[in-house]
Amino acid sequence: MSATELYADLKRKLSTIVPDFELQYKAELATQINRLKQEKNAVILGHNYMEPALYHSIPDHAGDSLELSRKAAQTDKDIIVFCGVRFMAETAKILSPDKTVLIPAEKAGCSLAESITAEDVRTLKKRFPGVPVVTYVNTYAEVKAESDVCCTSGNAVAVVESFADETVIFLPDEYLARNVARETGKHIVFPAQLNGENGTDIDYQLVGWHGKCEVHDKFTVADISNVRKQFPDVVILAHPECHPDVVAASDFSGSTSAMIRYVEQTSAPHCLLLTECSMGDNIIAANPQKEILRLCSVRCPHMNEITLEDTLAALQHGKYAVEVPEPVRSKAARAVQRMLTIG
Ligand code: 13P
Ligand code: SF4
Repeated sequence: MSATELYADLKRKLSTIVPDFELQYKAELATQINRLKQEKNAVILGHNYMEPALYHSIPDHAGDSLELSRKAAQTDKDIIVFCGVRFMAETAKILSPDKTVLIPAEKAGCSLAESITAEDVRTLKKRFPGVPVVTYVNTYAEVKAESDVCCTSGNAVAVVESFADETVIFLPDEYLARNVARETGKHIVFPAQLNGENGTDIDYQLVGWHGKCEVHDKFTVADISNVRKQFPDVVILAHPECHPDVVAASDFSGSTSAMIRYVEQTSAPHCLLLTECSMGDNIIAANPQKEILRLCSVRCPHMNEITLEDTLAALQHGKYAVEVPEPVRSKAARAVQRMLTIG
C-alpha cells in the first residue's frame, strides 16, 4: 500500500479519533515500516493496546497475549518485531529461539512482571512442596522457568481447571487469582495468612501472590455506579486484572480479544470498557456504529512506550534484540508450550 492509500485507509477508520495532520505523518512512517518489514522478512505482532494509528497500519497480527504467543510460535519469518511489552517479546523469543525478536522500546515493562522474582517462586515451592505452579504470562522468563505451566487472561480458568481438585499456586496477579478462584469455586489464601496457629486450620485450593496491574487497579465500583446512573442501559466489560468487586459489578469479563468480540456481537446501545483506553479507540474505529464509553485517563505507560518512530528504528537498526539465555529459555518454554495446548 502506498503512503497515500494508507493515509486514506487510516482517515476512513480514525478521522474522529486522531487529527488529520497526525494521520498524514503516521501514514508516512507506517509505509516505511511496511516496506522495511518486507525487505527484512519480518513479521510485526501488535497487542490490542497499541495506539490507534499503529494498531491499524503495521501489525500483521493483532491480538491478546495468548493469540500473539501462538502467532510467535508459528511464524516462518526471520524477524519478529513485537509491538507490546517486554514479557510478551520474551515469550516470543522463548517459543522461537532461532528468530531475531525485537522490541521497539527497551523500557516497556509491566507492574505485574516486576512484582515477583524467580527466588520468590523457589521459596514458595519449598514452602508448598509438590504443589503445581501456574504463572500468568505477564512475568519474566526466569519466573516462567520455575513454573509448571503458564496462562493468560484468555485461558487462566481452563489452566487451573486442568489440575482438577489439586491445590495450585497461582502467580503473581492477586486480582486475577481471586477472579479465577471465584469462577472455579476454589478457596484462595495468601502465604502470610497461613502463618501462626490459626493458619493450619485454613482450607484452601489456591495460593496467591500480591502482584497488581497498575492500570486495572485504578477502576472502582464507584466508577461503575456512576456510569450506570448516567447510562442505565450500559453494558460493562472488565478485564480480569480488575479488582474482583469491579469484575463482580460488571456484565462481562474476559481477555482483551474476548472484550473486542463481545462488543462486536452485542446489541447493547452503550458499552463501557474497563481496560487500557487505547483499546477503546481501536474498538471504536472498527465499530463506528457502536457507542463505546471509556475512562480515558487510564493508559498503560509501558504499552505507551511503543511508537511508530521506535518501530521504524527497530527495523532499521535491529534494536532492541531480546535474548533469553539457556537453560532458562528451555525451562520457560515447557511452561509456555503447555499453556498453548490448553484453552
Ligand atoms: P490480554 O492477554 O487480555 O491481552 O492482557 C494482557 C495485558 O497485559 C492486560 O493488561
Ligand atoms: Fe502490565 Fe497492566 Fe500494562 Fe498490561 S496494562 S502491560 S498488566 S501494567
